[in-house]
Amino acid sequence: TYVIAEPCVDVLDRTCIEECPVDCIYEGGRMLYIHPDECVDCGACEPVCPVEAIYYDEDVPDEWVSYTKANADFVEQAGLSGGGKKVGKTDFDVEPITGLPARVA
Ligand code: F3S
Ligand code: F3S
Repeated sequence: TYVIAEPCVDVLDRTCIEECPVDCIYEGGRMLYIHPDECVDCGACEPVCPVEAIYYDEDVPDEWVSYTKANADFVEQAGLSGGGKKVGKTDFDVEPITGLPARVA
């Protein structure tokens, strides 16, 4: 699966949503998350993110490895499936995102 990591937090550019052919990117309060069971590894989202937040799971930089679990935790804890665009924006987030200080613009 692909994973969205910390650079997305408080940026939420959303370009990735438009690229995903299976609509498996879900919107939380402070970042977006990829549903690991719905992502088909097409890779279309990865190059379009302006802050390089998206990685193939084996390539997530060491400092952000916890985001692989965070993406999975998010869809599980929020109970989301069946299409991120359909679900729309949620105000939900998971650790470690909830514990991060607000990013100053
Ligand atoms: Fe976030 Fe990048 Fe998508 S900032 S919303 S992962 S385009
Ligand atoms: Fe969609 Fe990106 Fe996976 S475009 S299918 S989330 S690799």
